[in-house]
Amino acid sequence: MTDDVRDAVERGWRELAGIDAALERGEIDEDGWHAAVLAIIEPAYLGAGTPQGQSGQSGDEAGWEQARRLVLDAVDGDGTFLDVGCANGLLMQSVHRWGAEDGVALEPYGVDISAALAELARRRCPQWADRIWTANALGWHPPRRFDYVRTGLDYVPAARRADLVRHLLDHVVAADGRLLVGVTNEERGRPGLAGALASWGFEVAGTATRPHRHPALERTVHWLDGEARADRK
Ligand SMILES: C[S@@+](CC[C@H](N)C(=O)[O-])C[C@H]1O[C@@H](n2cnc3c(N)ncnc32)[C@H](O)[C@@H]1O
Repeated sequence: MTDDVRDAVERGWRELAGIDAALERGEIDEDGWHAAVLAIIEPAYLGAGTPQGQSGQSGDEAGWEQARRLVLDAVDGDGTFLDVGCANGLLMQSVHRWGAEDGVALEPYGVDISAALAELARRRCPQWADRIWTANALGWHPPRRFDYVRTGLDYVPAARRADLVRHLLDHVVAADGRLLVGVTNEERGRPGLAGALASWGFEVAGTATRPHRHPALERTVHWLDGEARADRK
């Protein structure tokens, strides 16, 4: 990512706090929240000079692999893999390749709230163009369910995060499937996202971590099992 783009993204994250506050004060509604977030993300991602930058990540291919490959720790067999918030489709391509390297066949799918980013993903991955949708994941009813569904929780306002998890488990993840939450940079030694998920009544079935270059942080992926998979335990 160029310095210009990185600065724009970092400025963007500061602006996000302001958007949350405007929602809390009732100055904007949830549609306004999503529109304001997109107004930051879209130009930064679309203007980035690298595939990683177009997925919101500074750094190069090696840094991307270091930051994202841990999602494969949640994968225990072949299946369909939906990336919620697929941006330019880079994670779809990556899980396909990393899965093959690890001996699992993953069929990637994607959805993004940004029509422009979903279109970029379709252009970059024409072989999967008919598997990439434009929608707000919260409330989206896909034409099929998926064995693995990855999401971030910051794709919805803070007060709707538990609703996003419930919605994805009830309508998007296959009964025998798995919901992956992450990759997130979390403070080490704190209950963090796993604690939040548990406090909302979800059972965290597993967690993968990797070191972060900042010693106080670690990268995490937590996963929740679909109904049928959880019942088998
Ligand atoms: C940081 S990028 C994720 C890129 C990549 N999937 C990864 O895991 O690194 C977040 C993406 O989520 C999309 N997004 C944000 N809110 C969303 C929502 N409610 N539904 C679907 N996509 C959303 C954004 O447009 C953006 O492209």
